[in-house]
Order: sequence, then C-alpha cells, then structure tokens
Amino acid sequence: MKAPVRVAITGGAGQIAYSLAFRIASGDMLGPDQPVILQLLEIPPAMGALEGVVMELNDCAFPLVHGIVATDDPNVAFKDADYALLVGARPRGPGMERKDLLQANAQIFSVQGKALNDHASRDVKVLVVGNPANTNALIARENAPDLNPRQFTAMMRLDHNRALSQLAEKTGKHTTDIDKMIVWGNHSATQYPDLHHATVAGEAALGLVDQAWYENDFIPVVQQRGAAIIKARGASSAASAASAAVDHMRSWALGSNGGWVSMGVASDGSYGVAEGIVYSYPCVCENGDYTVVQGLEINAFSQARMDATEQELREERAAVEELLG
Ligand code: NAD
Ligand code: LMR
Repeated sequence: MKAPVRVAITGGAGQIAYSLAFRIASGDMLGPDQPVILQLLEIPPAMGALEGVVMELNDCAFPLVHGIVATDDPNVAFKDADYALLVGARPRGPGMERKDLLQANAQIFSVQGKALNDHASRDVKVLVVGNPANTNALIARENAPDLNPRQFTAMMRLDHNRALSQLAEKTGKHTTDIDKMIVWGNHSATQYPDLHHATVAGEAALGLVDQAWYENDFIPVVQQRGAAIIKARGASSAASAASAAVDHMRSWALGSNGGWVSMGVASDGSYGVAEGIVYSYPCVCENGDYTVVQGLEINAFSQARMDATEQELREERAAVEELLG
C-alpha cells in the first residue's frame, strides 16, 4: 500500500459530491492501492448535511479511507491537499446559461485560489467543476501566484464523454472503440465537439456519419446536453459530472495510456488561442502531467467554431478582471 494522499472536495454536501466522494473513497479515481484522506469543505449552513455525508462515508467502512476532515474553512480543507476538486458553487436552473453564474460564483474561486496558494501541497492538482468552470479555474489560478498555472484545470471531460456516447450510439459501436475525440474551448453552449480527427474502430468518424448529422445533431446535442438534463431531471447533472471528474483526475494522475482526453488548461497560445484563458484542448497524460496534442490540421469549419468559443472565454475573462489577482 502507498502512503495516503489528501483529496479536498468543495461543496461536500452537494449533489455531485454525494456521488464523487464515494467514488474516490472506493478507489475509482486514484486506484485500488492508493489510500486517501478526504477533506470536505462546505459553507456554515450546510455543515449539518455534511456531517450526514461523513456518517455515510464512515458507514461504508471503505478500506482506502484513512481519515475524513469536514470543515467550513478553506484553509483547513486545502491543508497539504494533493488533489483539490472545486465543486462547491451554485448550479444553474432552467433557462440560464452557465456564464449567468459568473457573478454569483466568481468570489468563491478567488478565496479558494488564495487558500490553495497558501496551504495546499506544492504539487496539488486542481480540477474546477463549479460553473462557469473554465473562468472559475482562471480566477483560482490567478489568485495562486506561488503555484504553477498548469496545476489549475477545468472540467471538459463530461462534454468529452457525452461526445463519445453520442458517436458510439450513432455508429453502433462501443465508446471504447473511439479514439481521438476532441472538445475544444469552453464548457458552455459554444464548446466545439470536433470529429475531424476521431476514429471508430480505426475508421475515420466523419466517413461513418453524414455531415448533416454531424452539424445539426451531434454538435448541438453535445453542446446542449447539460440543459437537456436540467429540463428532464429538474436539477443539473450530478452522477455523470462526478464520473467525469473521476475520469479527469485519474487520467491526469495515472496517465491516459496514449489516448486523447479533453481538458480545460491554461492556454500557452497553442492553435492561436489567447494565452492564459482556460481553453479545452486534446491532451495526452503521462507521469502525472499533461501535454496538449500539437500539429493538428484545422479546417475553416473547425476554425470558426474554435474562434467563437475562444471569444466567449475572452469576454468572460474581461467580466471578472477585478478578481484576477
Ligand atoms: P449543489 O447545489 O447540489 O451543491 C453545491 C454545494 O456547494 C452546496 O452544498 C453548497 O452549500 C456548496 N457551496 C456553495 N458555496 C461554497 C463554498 N464557497 N465553499 C464550499 N462549498 C460551497 O450543486 P451541484 O449539482 O453539486 O453542482 C455544483 C457545481 O458544479 C455547479 O456550479 C454546477 O453548475 C457545476 N457543474 C459543472 C459541471 C461541469 O461539467 N463542469 C457538471 C455538472 C455541474
Ligand atoms: C452540465 O454540463 O451538465 C453542467 O455544467 C450543468 C449545467 O449547468 O449544464
């Protein structure tokens, strides 16, 4: 057995955490040989509910859980954290876009960025799930000047998984037959799920589906999936969001075995995207690090969509300028 690592989860009493904490505790994120100490953060009015979650975690008697901290102080929750999953934030309701949450949620991520800067492990891996995830990750990162910007990522894996599922269903294959899926840009309705490089059982995806399905079904269904779930469930996605968070962190920590995964990361200017904004790129993970896949040919159809989602992220950045450290 390895030494325990510390995993901080914010919004510990929320609906995503109710799935996420148990998946992490059972080893799905970091493997069956990796003990964890869970450090759960909530706001004071939700501490009672968080106590209930802790009771349930204890009642599972998970072999990998070596401690649970429940707190309303970010400085305690992030103390020596090796992994931080920033989930706690207000979710949107019907008729809202995720960026409508920016003013309500932005402050949370500046406070938590500072707390991570001052208290987390110097190697902490941060995943922002709370919406609007990309710009919240930017805010957290800019408030953590002592950490490497590469340590702050935003969750695009749910969009990536949704794209895999739609394409698998359409082609009558399994999601595991699909390689080189990409979702570019923002976790919003402007995101661009790109099939130009994808293969299904070794065949070019765009050779297996018609262009009308790609443009008029696939892209809008993936872009609007979050809203469709809110409409159907009366609440935003939770178990699938938790599953995507587990996938994101597992790939980052343990590697993607050469496969491409979509991650919102600090742009280094790759593909002409403005430096610094948190933009989703195809990434390959190994040795606890990620590399943006370089050198892909981008046609005019893709470029226009990549530009539109970049433009939205620039506008979001401008709207929170005063919180950027
Ligand atoms: P929820 O309302 O069920 O839970 C959020 C929890 O966060 C609540 O318990 C709340 O008390 C807590 N919280 C609020 N402010 C906090 C703070 N400052 N510190 C710690 N905890 C705090 O919401 P949910 O369904 O779990 O969703 C959480 C967030 O994740 C929302 O913003 C939602 O839009 C987002 N989300 C993102 C994705 C994605 O793909 N990136 C997917 C699904 C949901
Ligand atoms: C999702 O994609 O399901 C989440 O971001 C929740 C939402 O607001 O759509």
